[in-house]
Amino acid sequence: MASSSTHFFVSSLVFLMISFFQPSSHQQLCHKDEYLALMQFKDSFVIERQASTRPKVDLWKSQGIDCCSWEGIWCDQNTSHVIHLDLSSSCLFGSINSSSSLFRLGHLQYLNLALNEFNFSKIPSAMGNLSSQLRALDVGNAIFSGELPSSIGMFSSLEYLDVSSCNLSGWVPPSIDLSFNSLKGSLPIPPLSILFYWVSGNMFSGEIPPQFCNMTSLQLLDLSQNNLSGTMLQCFGNLSSMLVLNLEGNNFHGPIPETWESGNKLKEIKMGKNNLQGRLPRSLRNCKVLEFLDLGNNKIEDTFPYWLGALPELRILILHSNRFHGTISIKVPEIDFLFPKLRIIDLSNNGFVGTLPIDLFARWNAMADLDEENATYLQVYKHHLMMNSFILPFQFPYSMTITNKGEKLEYAKILEIFKAIDFSCNKFEGEIPELVGNLKGLQLLNLSNNILDGQIPPALGYLTSLEALDLSQNKLTRRIPTQLTQLNFLEVFNVSHNHLTGPISKGQQFDTFENNSFDGNSGLCGMPLSRKCDYYNSENLPPPSSTSKGNEDSGLLAQFGWKLVLLGYGCGFLIGVVIGNIVFTRKREWFMKTFRIW
Ligand SMILES: *[C@@H]1O[C@H](CO)[C@@H](O)[C@H](O)[C@H]1NC(C)=O
Ligand SMILES: *[C@@H]1O[C@H](CO)[C@@H](O)[C@H](O)[C@H]1NC(C)=O
Ligand SMILES: *[C@@H]1O[C@H](CO)[C@@H](O)[C@H](O)[C@H]1NC(C)=O
Ligand SMILES: *[C@@H]1O[C@H](CO)[C@@H](O)[C@H](O)[C@H]1NC(C)=O
Ligand SMILES: *[C@@H]1O[C@H](CO)[C@@H](O)[C@H](O)[C@H]1NC(C)=O
Ligand SMILES: *[C@@H]1O[C@H](CO)[C@@H](O)[C@H](O)[C@H]1NC(C)=O
Ligand SMILES: *[C@@H]1O[C@H](CO)[C@@H](O)[C@H](O)[C@H]1NC(C)=O
Ligand SMILES: *[C@@H]1O[C@H](CO)[C@@H](O)[C@H](O)[C@H]1NC(C)=O
Ligand SMILES: *[C@@H]1O[C@H](CO)[C@@H](O)[C@H](O)[C@H]1NC(C)=O
Ligand SMILES: *[C@@H]1O[C@H](CO)[C@@H](O)[C@H](O)[C@H]1NC(C)=O
Ligand SMILES: *[C@@H]1O[C@H](CO)[C@@H](O)[C@H](O)[C@H]1NC(C)=O
Ligand SMILES: *[C@@H]1O[C@H](CO)[C@@H](O)[C@H](O)[C@H]1NC(C)=O
Repeated sequence: MASSSTHFFVSSLVFLMISFFQPSSHQQLCHKDEYLALMQFKDSFVIERQASTRPKVDLWKSQGIDCCSWEGIWCDQNTSHVIHLDLSSSCLFGSINSSSSLFRLGHLQYLNLALNEFNFSKIPSAMGNLSSQLRALDVGNAIFSGELPSSIGMFSSLEYLDVSSCNLSGWVPPSIDLSFNSLKGSLPIPPLSILFYWVSGNMFSGEIPPQFCNMTSLQLLDLSQNNLSGTMLQCFGNLSSMLVLNLEGNNFHGPIPETWESGNKLKEIKMGKNNLQGRLPRSLRNCKVLEFLDLGNNKIEDTFPYWLGALPELRILILHSNRFHGTISIKVPEIDFLFPKLRIIDLSNNGFVGTLPIDLFARWNAMADLDEENATYLQVYKHHLMMNSFILPFQFPYSMTITNKGEKLEYAKILEIFKAIDFSCNKFEGEIPELVGNLKGLQLLNLSNNILDGQIPPALGYLTSLEALDLSQNKLTRRIPTQLTQLNFLEVFNVSHNHLTGPISKGQQFDTFENNSFDGNSGLCGMPLSRKCDYYNSENLPPPSSTSKGNEDSGLLAQFGWKLVLLGYGCGFLIGVVIGNIVFTRKREWFMKTFRIW
């Protein structure tokens, strides 16, 4: 539980020092008592040198007597007091107790001791001595043990606290905030000044205290993978600073908060894996900058929220495993765009009926784009000016769980270029429209477990980015179009349990599929199935080879601007695997932590 997957976003808060805040040489020297305190602090540790890291303290001696010019230290321009100490990743090994000279630096505003080894000592209670100036404390991934001292709860100016992955345990008095430990009890109430609050990956229980409604500075609230219960606070739609709201994986029940105020700044709402009921509040329409909405695995009963299509920034919509019903084919020709930036839509496991939505397929422009290779991730990014001495950019990559390539995968980060439609396990009927060939950026298309009939449209051959195509468990007929052999990245292909007939195409990726891709179609023949094709039966004539396309298709090819990608399947397969495997690791990514730019 403690090593939850979502927690690595903590590490992606990157501190960016702005160089012009460096003190210039003509300033007065640092205070002697602070100089001595720093030297003493340094000397209380063994420096455990590693090839990859250069301890900041190594340079101190050579940088002279003015501690304000030492690496990792910033002083107030006017008073010359040390206000900023960053000794993260400095190979410090040893214990800290309350007598440490560190606590003589009474003017500290920012303290970063992350990624050191404090030899399982407790976080000293004297940390509370820094309570009135300290505004940011980062001891993430530093090896401490025991409980957090209650004095940390008194930090009235604290805006940023990271004690993640510190192996802290035990009961916590309800006035402290923290994350990624094995904490239980009721949810601690952080100081009202807190900007980011995450307690994911703990075992907190009980209801969310109503005090959270008063945290008007809160930008990030992450309560995921706990055991919280009760209903959601109605005020969640009313917190004006909130960018990220993650309540996933708890035991919340009842309705989604009804009122989402216009002008809210929410970019991500995640409420999946709870027991939420009722329908979607129409005021979600007011979340004009929303990029990511995940309400999967609840008990929401509603019709398809086409009105969310008016959100100009919405990129990811996950509604799987709920009780949505009705048709999603809408006839609203007067609207030019609907879901203009949508890249990932997962409606699987609901009760949708009717035909596939031609009107929507025609408007999903982001899915139709074949992006250039671009390894950027979907994330919240915002510059947040925090103190007079540094800027804290707020970087928070989106994460999600979806089924791809036959497995439930947790994507800790989502590449911009990943585009997916999962409509599986509904009751969609009728033919698969040719227009789906328009969505050329798709990497995953899953229409399995519906009641689709007719033939597989040859236009699927235009989806040149496809890595997984699942049409299994439908009522599809006729032959598998040879055009599909041109999908160079196709790794998983499944047309099992349909009414397909004729020979299976050969060549390219099709040589890699096994017979369970084709199972349960009594009319299919040829490798990899054991049933041989009867060439005297005209129904079973071998299909034309993929390079000599039939006439009726070439018109379509031109229409969709098809460009043949002659990569060869070996290459395609390899790239497919690499791109497709940029998924989660459940371990904390230490290297992220060291990604602090000077
Ligand atoms: C330093 O002092 C000047 C003049 O007294 C003042 O304008 C400025 O805001 C001070 N700077 C800081 C960082 O306190
Ligand atoms: C680490 O802790 C152990 C046990 O408390 C102690 O024996 C050892 O001296 C400590 N090492 C340092 C460098 O403080
Ligand atoms: C605190 O640690 C120092 C060594 O770092 C040690 O000399 C001192 O006795 C310790 N004080 C207490 C109260 O444990
Ligand atoms: C912490 O503050 C108390 C009182 O404010 C003081 O007596 C004590 O010496 C301080 N601790 C350190 C390590 O400076
Ligand atoms: C974490 O702390 C517990 C005691 O609370 C200890 O048993 C365990 O060995 C520690 N784990 C690590 C990785 O340090
Ligand atoms: C929120 O703040 C207001 C005024 O500051 C106070 O009256 C109210 O009791 C607070 N609510 C909670 C739940 O703390
Ligand atoms: C979660 O909370 C419920 C009560 O709300 C309790 O019955 C259950 O045991 C808790 N589960 C865990 C794993 O702590
Ligand atoms: C939301 O805020 C408005 C004022 O901005 C207030 O009138 C309304 O009662 C609040 N709603 C909730 C549910 O807190
Ligand atoms: C990659 O995507 C980002 C964000 O969409 C964009 O700003 C950047 O220009 C793109 N880079 C390339 C090389 O296309
Ligand atoms: C398609 O969806 C079904 C049902 O949700 C799932 O079992 C299957 O593995 C998915 N196919 C792929 C290729 O991910
Ligand atoms: C295809 O789907 C069926 C069930 O619909 C499944 O049993 C089979 O393992 C799948 N095959 C592949 C290759 O994904
Ligand atoms: C599928 O292949 C396996 C061996 O890989 C074979 O035993 C089985 O009979 C084949 N099934 C069909 C339907 O061809």
